[in-house]
Amino acid sequence: AYTPIAFAERCVAELAAHLGEGRAVVALSGGLDSAVSAALVARALGDRLVPLFVDHGLLRAGEAEEVPAALTQILGLPVRRVDARDAFLAALRGLVDPEAKRRAVGETFICVFEREVAGIPDVAYLVQGTVYSDLIESVGRGGVKAHHNVGGLPERVSFTLVEPLRPLLKDEVREIARHLGFPASLVERQPFPGPGLAVRVVGEVTAERLELLREADRIVREEIGSSDVAPTLWQYFAVLPGVRTVGAKDGRRREGEVVAVRAVVSEEAMSARAAELPYELLRKIAHRLTTELPAVARVVYDVTDKPPATIEWE
Ligand code: XMP
Repeated sequence: AYTPIAFAERCVAELAAHLGEGRAVVALSGGLDSAVSAALVARALGDRLVPLFVDHGLLRAGEAEEVPAALTQILGLPVRRVDARDAFLAALRGLVDPEAKRRAVGETFICVFEREVAGIPDVAYLVQGTVYSDLIESVGRGGVKAHHNVGGLPERVSFTLVEPLRPLLKDEVREIARHLGFPASLVERQPFPGPGLAVRVVGEVTAERLELLREADRIVREEIGSSDVAPTLWQYFAVLPGVRTVGAKDGRRREGEVVAVRAVVSEEAMSARAAELPYELLRKIAHRLTTELPAVARVVYDVTDKPPATIEWE
């Protein structure tokens, strides 16, 4: 019978049988999909797999340190962190269109990756974590969003693409991850868009706004994550809509940013319901955001389902 575990076992055997000479490289960006793909290939190829962690500076608080450490353990291979934060910020400068931002992140990713790979001898394969829902979202529904991790490779890249998870759904990937001994922190990790926080800073991404969102998101995740509702949610995070608003702090009227809180219930992200968070929880989040982050003047909760909205704001 078909099970994700059986799929994984067969996948490792097939990779071992069919991948010829040469090294495989995987760019890990913190997501579960690329990590599980890497783990399957690592089982087949051992240290012929070279795992790179591209730090694009668009990850959530703490992840740039935690993720490579955790993956080094899981893969049993040293994961090298490539600090590319400046390159991504430079590529995003001046861009406000969401698709242009996605393209910039995707293209920069490929540039950074190509440069790194050029320094590694005998690379024949490129491992990617594409899953089924990426493909549907990208092509099936009139190209709703350009998922930057799908089919974005320019022709000058002459590796064979290895995408072992292509037929799988997110839950199946999680099941395989558990089977492979991934820690719960990685398996239960919320789905996170490839372009990361860049598509949650609505409008232009600057170093300052990125840092503000990262801190706001940390607070939102701490509060919701430690509440009873957390296990029922598909995703929860903060967004910077880019609206300037007036606040009254310390007896003075002062302009600040709006932070939007998003939390949804969903099966596979094709549709989603805005979560009915306890009002006390929302009040606590609003209080923490506005007191701990001086730049935040107002907090709103997004009550829109998907459809008509998408889960992300961009
Ligand atoms: P939307 O916003 O389209 O999101 O309702 C559906 C799911 O996909 C994630 N998402 C992305 N993932 N690259 C990705 O790898 C992207 O560009 C991207 N945009 C959205 C989103 O977080 C949600 O889980």
